Amino acid sequence: MSPLDADIEAVLYSADDIRDKIAELARTIDADYADREPVLVGVLKGAAMFMSDLARALERPSTMEFMAVSSYGSGTQSSGVVRILKDLDRDISGQHVLIVEDIIDSGLTLSWLLKNLSSRSPASISIVTLLRKPEAVKVDIDVTYVGFDIANEFVVGYGLDYAERYRDLPYIGRLKPAVYGG
Ligand code: PRP
Repeated sequence: MSPLDADIEAVLYSADDIRDKIAELARTIDADYADREPVLVGVLKGAAMFMSDLARALERPSTMEFMAVSSYGSGTQSSGVVRILKDLDRDISGQHVLIVEDIIDSGLTLSWLLKNLSSRSPASISIVTLLRKPEAVKVDIDVTYVGFDIANEFVVGYGLDYAERYRDLPYIGRLKPAVYGG
């Protein structure tokens, strides 16, 4: 139990639901990367939980890199501005890159990231996201692995924040509109 539970209107995916889905994604990724060792590129901060659980669920070896980009302000809407806050620590040319995202909303962050990382000559580049919102489906990005397709509502927990809080909740839930003045 967390004092933050009181701000949650409904739990969408419990810790068990998330664990089961990650196990399922890991099985597929293990099979697809049977002869390749992916570099997992986690997009901070939201993907931190997903990245660490996914890496441990994979039976095949992988390595980790993190990037931090910013596309949101502290509110609930995409700002349309993407900038690099932290870049990769190493060269990914010739590497098999698997971008690890917590959520694709407008798809803006990912289309920018794909273009940016593709220009660094990786051997391959794929995307895994735990959550995907409806707008993202319309964007022309090939997302290979999707955990859950969700409705267009404001969700927090398991890495997802509102004004930097709620990331530490073990589940994904819908925030009460009163919390963000909705
Ligand atoms: C979130 C999320 C994605 C991005 C998705 O990150 O982690 O990176 O927004 O939105 P989009 O598809 O509309 O571009 P955010 O910028 O909130 O940073 P955070 O991960 O540090 O919370």
